[in-house]
Amino acid sequence: MSKGPQSSYLAALGIDVYRLRDRPPASIPATPAPACAVAEPAPANDDRWPTLEAEVSKCTRCELHRGRTQTVFGVGRRDARLLVIGEAPGAEEDRQGEPFVGRAGILLNAMLRSIGLARGDVYIANILKCRPPGNRDPKPDETAECTPYLERQIELIAPRAALAVGRIAAQHLLQSDEPIGRLRGKLLSFGARRIPLVVTYHPAYLLRSPSAKSKSWQDLCLLRQLLKSGS
Ligand code: URA
Repeated sequence: MSKGPQSSYLAALGIDVYRLRDRPPASIPATPAPACAVAEPAPANDDRWPTLEAEVSKCTRCELHRGRTQTVFGVGRRDARLLVIGEAPGAEEDRQGEPFVGRAGILLNAMLRSIGLARGDVYIANILKCRPPGNRDPKPDETAECTPYLERQIELIAPRAALAVGRIAAQHLLQSDEPIGRLRGKLLSFGARRIPLVVTYHPAYLLRSPSAKSKSWQDLCLLRQLLKSGS
């Protein structure tokens, strides 16, 4: 039986960790960590955050503004070492104005917990700040219009690492059309600053496909190692 302090979170993930604990995922793949030019985090009294948040809240750059209850800007530490990036708000997020607060969010919290991180330790944002109707995939023009907001958040946070959850976020950040099965499980980097990136399955997918949780656990172990190596 798993007895470590993380066991309840791993149980929440539905992950059998017996073999992984005895034989943890070997190490970050041989490829050296990408060079990452780290920007200075914004000083606490910086007005760039409120300016950006106000801009996003009034955004009408794409059609999604017509159907939203409110924008979903992002949540968490603005000097976080880890930035979690999802796809777009769902119904619950649109209602509450916060990313990952529905069932997928509960699982995301457990996934973070399993590697020793509280939700409040990280910053969580989405590619899109408004909910697509019926939770359909983002359209290219929506992604294009919204990306500058995420880029400004990334600039301000200057995270050490990012976790992309789900195909949409991963493919967009990496400008790739590779399937998620080929993007996950390795250390990548994205953007002008080559921020180290780990890709894993979206928690909503994991809720539908519990058999993928063991792979997701491997991704989280890789992320944990990456964060440790930078401390
Ligand atoms: N799925 C996402 O990708 N983001 C959220 O905020 C909620 C569900």
